Amino acid sequence: MLSPTSFTLFCVLLLCLPVAFIFTVQREFTAVVSPEFGFGSLSLFSLYSRNAHDASSPVVRFRQPIPKDDEQLLALASRVNPNQPSPGSIRKLAFMFLTTSPLPFAPLWETFFNGSSSKELYNVYVHADPTRDYDPPFSGVFESRVVHSKHSERNTPTLAAAARRLIAHALLDDPQNYMFALFSPSCVPIRSFDFTYETLVTSRRSFIEILKDEPLQFERWAARGPLAMLPEVRFDDFRIGSQFWVLKRRHANVVARDRRVWEKFNRTCLWKGSCFPEENYFPTLLNMRDPRGCVPATLTHVDWTINDGGHPRMYEAEEVVPELILRLRNTRPRYGDDGINGSDWSVVERSDPFLFARKFSPEALGPLMGMARTVLFNDSACAT
Ligand SMILES: *[C@@H]1O[C@H](CO)[C@@H](O)[C@H](O)[C@H]1NC(C)=O
Ligand SMILES: *[C@@H]1O[C@H](CO)[C@@H](O)[C@H](O)[C@H]1NC(C)=O
Ligand SMILES: *[C@@H]1O[C@H](CO)[C@@H](O)[C@H](O)[C@H]1NC(C)=O
Ligand SMILES: *[C@@H]1O[C@H](CO)[C@@H](O)[C@H](O)[C@H]1NC(C)=O
Repeated sequence: MLSPTSFTLFCVLLLCLPVAFIFTVQREFTAVVSPEFGFGSLSLFSLYSRNAHDASSPVVRFRQPIPKDDEQLLALASRVNPNQPSPGSIRKLAFMFLTTSPLPFAPLWETFFNGSSSKELYNVYVHADPTRDYDPPFSGVFESRVVHSKHSERNTPTLAAAARRLIAHALLDDPQNYMFALFSPSCVPIRSFDFTYETLVTSRRSFIEILKDEPLQFERWAARGPLAMLPEVRFDDFRIGSQFWVLKRRHANVVARDRRVWEKFNRTCLWKGSCFPEENYFPTLLNMRDPRGCVPATLTHVDWTINDGGHPRMYEAEEVVPELILRLRNTRPRYGDDGINGSDWSVVERSDPFLFARKFSPEALGPLMGMARTVLFNDSACAT
């Protein structure tokens, strides 16, 4: 047995190497879209957690035994009914949080969910990398909602694998889960629960950004080797988009069923700097399988006019005023236009409302809570 001190030192050394590498690559890399799953607040102190915390052990109570092996888990999830159980049954939203840290906006989400007319309208799931520390532990609506999680890190397929794991658990957990939304710890809701619910459950399509001809498109496609994606994923099939999508149940099922395309995206990248499977796998797969079933836009607002080493603008506490929220709400999403037949009128005419936004610094919690009732969850709020 190593002593606690030498064990800690060992972990630091082990963990610093890849981190130093990622940071070096990251500095040279500026993309239009880039991943972010709680790594903004990542510090060396949170890296070598004293212990993998109990808070991250699987505690959601499932109706059936859930395999820990991903392939078995997804195979089981692929066999659920992809449709609503019956026309009149409740349609629930699955809120899926992918994190490596405690959730800084948990109190805001708590208030958001509290505004729902019934607890029967949603389910919460958390994927929490078990190699990290969660202090304070998940509580309130997040308590006992952690699914069986595995280590996940940037520039590898593990983030996309974690999102697939969340989808599989949510499919198996509740046949009434109807829309599946993915969030990072720095995402916040900017509409009331009821507005969000109505917008999502009445949509006949998924909301997933699907873009083509983005910067570094080729480098991203070729990150696993020049011809590694062939023949399953031709360069022409390859798409880029925000990892913050909302998928219909039938598309969640498409993800769980897919082995062919995932087998390519699950490969180790030779070029880590252009390796963002979580931004490529989902838009590519859904664009290949059902482009017309997707609104090719994300409903999670982000500001890429500032690109800080591959990270979008992060709102600091002092910037978080009612005008900011109202401005984000009034922005029209960016629609990718090739997946559904060129300038399809239904995209040209659309203007879907942003329901969520990122990235907010943890210190923004105070100002956000201060305007939760009057602005954030007040759908008729307007500039004064
Ligand atoms: C993805 O790749 C990893 C590492 O090669 C492997 O252990 C895992 O089983 C793969 N996942 C699936 C679902 O195929
Ligand atoms: C939830 O709502 C109830 C009544 O509507 C209120 O009493 C309670 O304080 C709220 N809790 C939170 C966390 O907002
Ligand atoms: C695209 O639109 C044209 C004309 O409206 C139609 O004939 C064609 O089938 C469409 N293609 C696809 C892939 O939907
Ligand atoms: C919601 O916004 C409207 C318009 O700005 C305002 O009149 C109303 O008082 C707000 N509601 C709450 C609960 O603050």
